[in-house]
This record gives sequence, C-alpha cells and structure tokens, in this order.
Amino acid sequence: MQSIVGPLDNRFGVPTLGQVPKPMPITHLDFKSEAAERGCFPHFMLKEIFEQPHTVASALSDRLDHQAAMARFGGLNLSTAEFRAVDRVVIAASGTSRHAGLIGEYLLEELAHLPTEVEYASEFRYRNAPFDKSTLLLVITQSGETSDTLAGLREIRRRGHKVLAVCNVGDSTIAREADGGIYLHAGPERGVASTKSFTSQVAVLALFALFMGRIRRLSRENGSSLLRALEEIPAQIQSILEQNNHVREIALKYARAEDFLVFGRQYSFPVALEGALKLKEMSHIHAEGYPAAEMNHHPIAFVDEATPSVFVAPVDQIYYEARRNIEEIRAGEGRVIAITTEGNETLSRKVDEILYVPQTLDCLTPLLTVVPLQLLAYHIAVLRGCDVDKPVTSPKV
Ligand code: M6R
Repeated sequence: MQSIVGPLDNRFGVPTLGQVPKPMPITHLDFKSEAAERGCFPHFMLKEIFEQPHTVASALSDRLDHQAAMARFGGLNLSTAEFRAVDRVVIAASGTSRHAGLIGEYLLEELAHLPTEVEYASEFRYRNAPFDKSTLLLVITQSGETSDTLAGLREIRRRGHKVLAVCNVGDSTIAREADGGIYLHAGPERGVASTKSFTSQVAVLALFALFMGRIRRLSRENGSSLLRALEEIPAQIQSILEQNNHVREIALKYARAEDFLVFGRQYSFPVALEGALKLKEMSHIHAEGYPAAEMNHHPIAFVDEATPSVFVAPVDQIYYEARRNIEEIRAGEGRVIAITTEGNETLSRKVDEILYVPQTLDCLTPLLTVVPLQLLAYHIAVLRGCDVDKPVTSPKV
C-alpha cells in the first residue's frame, strides 16, 4: 500500500497511520517496575487522570495554525478536494472512544455542518450500513486493536471507501490498516479505565471538526476563537485537578450508594454517559447516563435519597433548561452533585454538592467537565475497595 507520510505525525518515531511499517532495528527498552512507572501515584488511573494537562497539550502540539485559523495534520492522507467531497461522516467506536465520537458528532455538525452518525462498532460490523462514495468512515480507538472497530474498518475498506482513524497506539493494527488519521500522542494508557485517551480524542476531534469546518463554512473569526480556547484547556484541566481533595470528600459521602444517575444535555450528554461508564467500570455499581430532559420519561421514578444524581451543567446555551431539570430532581427529594462553571452562583442553594470548572466555549466543555467525573469514579472505587487498575473482581463492600 502506498502512503503519503506527513512530517508531523512522525514525531514519536511511530509508523504514520496508513503506512506499512518497515522492518525496524531491534532496540533494547529499559523496562521499569510497575511501582516505578506509577511514580508518586497509587494507581495508574490516577496518574493518567493527572497527566491530562500534558496529554491534551501533546494532542494539540504542532497542529494549531493561527494564521489560517485552521488545524493541520500530518497523516490524513486525503486531499483537500477529497475532504470537500465528503457529505456524511460515520463514526464507529466502542466504550469510551464511542462517547468521544458522540462529542465528535456534535462538533462536526456545529462547526462543519456535516451530517454525522455514531455507531457502536459491535453493531456496525454486522450491519449492511449504506455507504455512498461521499461518506467517510472515522474509527476512534485508544488501543488500535479493538476487534469490532477493526472489523468495521476492514469491511468498509473492502467496499472501496476511505477510512480514517483517531488512534493512540502507533504500531497497532488499526493504525496500520486505516488510510490515514490522527494520533493522540497520549503515551501508553496502563489503567484499564480510559481517561487521558478520552480527553485527547475530544481535543483532536475538535481540531478535525475545525479542519472540516474551515474548508466549508466556518468563519476565520470562529476558527480563531476555537484555537484560542483550545490553547487554554491544559491549564484549565490543571486547575480542576487541584480540586482533587474536594472530589474525594464528596466521594466519601456517596461511596456506599448502589445506584447513580448521571445527566447532561447537548455536549454534556456524552460526558454523562462517560461518567456513568467510569462509575460502573471501576466500582461495579449501577450507573446510568441520560440526556437530562429524558428523566421525565422515566428515570425520575428512580430518584430518591439513596440514588444520587450527578448533573453535568456548565453554563452554556442550554444551562437554564438543565437547571430546571435539577430543580425537578430536587423536588423529588433526590440528592444532586452538580458540575458547573466557575462564577455560577445560581446553583449552590439548589444542590447538595458542587464542583466548578473554568469557563470555555460550549463545544469544549467536555474536555473540562469529564475530569471531576473521572476523579469521582476513581475515589468511589478506591473507597469501595476495588482494584481500579484491573477492575475484574467484585468489590469488597
Ligand atoms: O481501545 P479502544 O478505545 O478501542 O477501546 C474501546 C473500549 O473497550 C474502551 O474505551 C473501554 O470502554 C474503556 N476501558 C472504558 O474505560
């Protein structure tokens, strides 16, 4: 297979997406013990949550073109004309990567006005999904080895379509077999929970949506403000991590709950799904993520003293609607943990616990609001005696 190797995606000496790797000279790696690799952190999950200011910065590095208010990538391997011909995007992924894909859907719709659908890779691979020549498949995967995602990629390539991959592991099967794509450059993710890969996926999807938007309808001004807001994200994540002790105090109060509901609207809905997945995966407790307004179509029936609701409610264009949903939960005696924007004084008396994230553009709020949810899931799991880095056994409580 021929490939066009872009210079930017070879910064880490890995094969560029779509490139068949050449035989490499053998290198002796200096393997450290697990404990040494974790450094001062008790678990890889916590270490990787704390790496996010750096991993997001790395995902953005060399990709922001302020002059053109544009994103640049080294390994997309499609021409601008080919990208302009795309009139529909299908995203296939699993688990956390699929949640990042849902945010990618909203981003591509908002910034590039591109119809986008997100599929469970495990369903997509067995369906005869209609694809015409202007449809682009984008697969998202941290490992690059998820079999359902790989099978979907192979089927669509077999039919003669282009497939791009958003991938973290450079020498993975998906990275090799995709026509092109974008690396996360997040470094190895050793914890079973995907944390830093999620924020890196969202960061590069924002850049990809900017790229698709700027070759279509997105103004220079809007492109520039997205780039400026993205540049602030690493420091903003750092400031959220400084609330770690506060998140742990909240976790102490709720660690015995057996059920959690997690709500969000618009860009915060996939974040709610991701927060619920983290709680389930780490602690084996029952947690469901919902679009907040759907609570009136049944989940509200589960709300009581023993079932906390976590609301992802940054001050965005839908905030006042979300706040009304919080009031409805409170009317039903439910306990509420809210994640909202710094400076928002309108919630503190309506909720039991409150965590703040800095102000950013609506479409970038997932990069911030997911961090307290990751920390909450981590601390609840630790308090319940779960092995957070290998969550395969039953919890002790
Ligand atoms: O490597 P991938 O991103 O393809 O993996 C997909 C899922 O298995 C993965 O995101 C899983 O849901 C996470 N461990 C959740 O934390």
